[in-house]
Amino acid sequence: MTPSIANLLGIKYPLIIAPMFLVSDTKMVIEALKSGCTAAIPALNYRTQAELRTAIREIRSAQKGPIGINLIVNKSNMRLSKDLAVCLEEGIDFYITSLGSPKEVIEKAHKDGKLVFCDVVNAEYALKVEKLGADAVIAVNNEAGGHAGKLSMIEILNELKNSIHIPIISAGGIAEAADLNAALEAGASGVSVGTVFIASDEAPVSQEYKNALIEYGAKDIVMTTKLSGTPCTVIKTPYVEKTGTEPNWIEKTMNRYKGLKKLMKMILFVRGMKKLRSAAFDFTYKKVWCAGPSIEKIKEIRPIRVIIADLVRDLP
Ligand SMILES: Cc1cc2nc3c(=O)[nH]c(=O)nc-3n(C[C@H](O)[C@H](O)[C@H](O)COP(=O)(O)O)c2cc1C
Repeated sequence: MTPSIANLLGIKYPLIIAPMFLVSDTKMVIEALKSGCTAAIPALNYRTQAELRTAIREIRSAQKGPIGINLIVNKSNMRLSKDLAVCLEEGIDFYITSLGSPKEVIEKAHKDGKLVFCDVVNAEYALKVEKLGADAVIAVNNEAGGHAGKLSMIEILNELKNSIHIPIISAGGIAEAADLNAALEAGASGVSVGTVFIASDEAPVSQEYKNALIEYGAKDIVMTTKLSGTPCTVIKTPYVEKTGTEPNWIEKTMNRYKGLKKLMKMILFVRGMKKLRSAAFDFTYKKVWCAGPSIEKIKEIRPIRVIIADLVRDLP
């Protein structure tokens, strides 16, 4: 038996509000802590290290409890070392790493006795991060919002239970208590939940984005590679339908040439992030909203404390 992440983190419920680019913010973390859970914010949600530091201090001064920061650990994240340095100085309690090798984060965080949870989509990668010393893995399944995995919740939990010995946190498709209970019953030591918290009073995104989570359903979620090159789930709005979910022929042609491939990726990334940012916060016809299929079960916009109370209602 691996310990519940509630014990690992010193919180009441084994629930993390998942890190969400552009969406997660200090208010959401504070509300999670007040409700006996925790949350993580992507470091990239802050333009500078000074803003990241201010955000961490704001949470600390408002509420006791463990705070998480999400770090993208692939080579294209030029800010990694600087963001990590701020987090270490500010005593961040746990890290969620995604899209690369967590080696540097694990080594540095462990020197201070802090925890590192690594996103994984299969056993092969989970074994690698376990060897590197990860404290838990986040099993991202095929119902997750963002960069979803390929395996169903049960498939990935079974695969991981048979190969690693550290706690497994299930991520993807959790919208109500029954989903959370099913993940724990299937052997997860906790859950990481994103999409349903976008439809919260506290999420800093536009009302239009929140309303879309109610109006659209699971059948409207599609994968796009247009935003960053890495497949990501978005709502199939008329704009997404019109512009497609794959790079256009110019982008594809450029991708074939080694020298241009890197440049193309950068252009795609910058353009994609600009679109996502403006769709999340402004009124624009370019509606590109990231969300997972759990929007199927979203019926209203609620305060975070109510969403959490609903999710954990069967837990002791
Ligand atoms: C809008 C949105 C943005 C996300 N941004 C990130 C991110 O910046 N870093 C990351 O590791 N995961 C990101 N994710 C994935 C979540 O951390 C989490 O794995 C996922 O939301 C779980 O699935 P669910 O949405 O069905 O609950 C994002 C997900 C969504 C919906």
